Amino acid sequence: MPRRIYIFDTTLRDGEQVPGAKLNTEQKLIVAKQLEKLGVDIIEAGFPASSPGDARAVNLVAKQTKGPIVAGLARCLKNDIDILWESIKDAKRPRIHVFLAASDIHIEKKLRLDRQRALEMAITAVKYAKKYCNDVEFSPEDATRADFDYLCKVVEGTIKAGATVINIPDTVGYTIPEEFSELIRKLIGRVPNIDKAILSVHCHNDLGLAVANSIAAIRSGANQVECTINGIGERAGNAALEEIVMILKTRLENFETNIFTPEIYATSRLVSRMMNIPVQPNKAIVGSNAFAHSAGIHQDGILKDRRTYEIIRPEDVGLKKHLLVLTARSGRAAVRHRLSELGYELSDDMFEKVYQRFLAVADRKKEICAEDLKSIVEIELTKVPEVYSLLRMQVMSGNETLPLAALTLKKGDKLITDASVGNGPVDAVFRCINRITGLNATLIDFDLKAITKGTDALGEAMVKIEVNGQVFAGRAASPDVIEAAARAYLNAANRYFAISKQ
Ligand code: KIV
Ligand code: ZN
Repeated sequence: MPRRIYIFDTTLRDGEQVPGAKLNTEQKLIVAKQLEKLGVDIIEAGFPASSPGDARAVNLVAKQTKGPIVAGLARCLKNDIDILWESIKDAKRPRIHVFLAASDIHIEKKLRLDRQRALEMAITAVKYAKKYCNDVEFSPEDATRADFDYLCKVVEGTIKAGATVINIPDTVGYTIPEEFSELIRKLIGRVPNIDKAILSVHCHNDLGLAVANSIAAIRSGANQVECTINGIGERAGNAALEEIVMILKTRLENFETNIFTPEIYATSRLVSRMMNIPVQPNKAIVGSNAFAHSAGIHQDGILKDRRTYEIIRPEDVGLKKHLLVLTARSGRAAVRHRLSELGYELSDDMFEKVYQRFLAVADRKKEICAEDLKSIVEIELTKVPEVYSLLRMQVMSGNETLPLAALTLKKGDKLITDASVGNGPVDAVFRCINRITGLNATLIDFDLKAITKGTDALGEAMVKIEVNGQVFAGRAASPDVIEAAARAYLNAANRYFAISKQ
């Protein structure tokens, strides 16, 4: 009988900590619903004490997802645990996840405590959480750099206090597979009450080993693995869910998960778009080139028998072409039907916004396929109230011309027109927006890609700007790539203006 591995998804908590990836409540719920469809066992929906907005979003996820356990994160502080419980208590199966530093460097330098005090705090917090909820997970943060005897004491003490899951984090992505494997094996051998808890691991990717370390730990006895879609997360990210699941499915038949793998690709796209984090083309399992065969010898082999160069069937991770194409003549019913097939159940208000944008795009691009439609929806969902909106733009560029952009933006009832030159047309447009709005931002990321193939493809632009030390992301799509860039930049700027109350 294969051993069951529980998939704990932390895309909405550790993944959401990436600068510019913050989701609003509606987006969080859409991602949570997709994770439910994917079949994850646990959704870590957020860190409610970090902001009232996050507490509300976690609460909505707790109320509206029925399958998975809904967990939230808290420090070992009563107030954090109280706020967390308020957010998740409506879940069918809630879980409180508390964490506290276990390595000396974290205990002494970050918390300015000693081991004894840290141990007491962890035990007190687990006991406190236990008053609310039977399912309590404890994570000794930075466990892989902790003193092993002390780690054993913490694990034993927190299980005795009632922890039902013990999660061993490689917080800074420091360990290597053999060492981590050994750590898990030694913990199982040494901690006398370890069988009273599910043993979990949580690996970061600073040395590119998060997935390898997670697999090594599973093979040594861990039963739960914490991961994120596309491997997003703090710094170099977390272990990628899709990679762990497909490694187990393709190579390690002694293990099984509850993941419905044909939903992997759709989940990856959704998270990438919602969080403004592009997926690198050569990313395992979900990169755009992961199943593309370009070398002649490979193409020849694939045509003869695809197993020559394919170890996973693309359809097993949900890569299939959607054939139904919409046009400017498609009515509301057809668009709604297609959206619902793609998994989007929108409110009437949101549907109307999507439909109007669909018509505007379909007027310029003859055929709207599934990928175009997904992009339109996800951009509408990420929009913020517009302080400035784009009314008109005219751009001049060429090999012997100084690129020039002239824009008219609308602010309330006022129309403001200005022009700017730049190093290229996109630069000219961004400078022009800065001139009109008075924005003083540093561009930290800009990505432009065609959503589908063909010269009339919808271009999708993603922009990240930094203003006063804070990062704001924006996204937009248009058949005109310069217009897409302008709208994305304005979208990010409006996010800043929304909080700066301009
Ligand atoms: O990386 C880490 O240590 C964490 C814990 C809160 C589990 O994210
Ligand atoms: Zn983490």
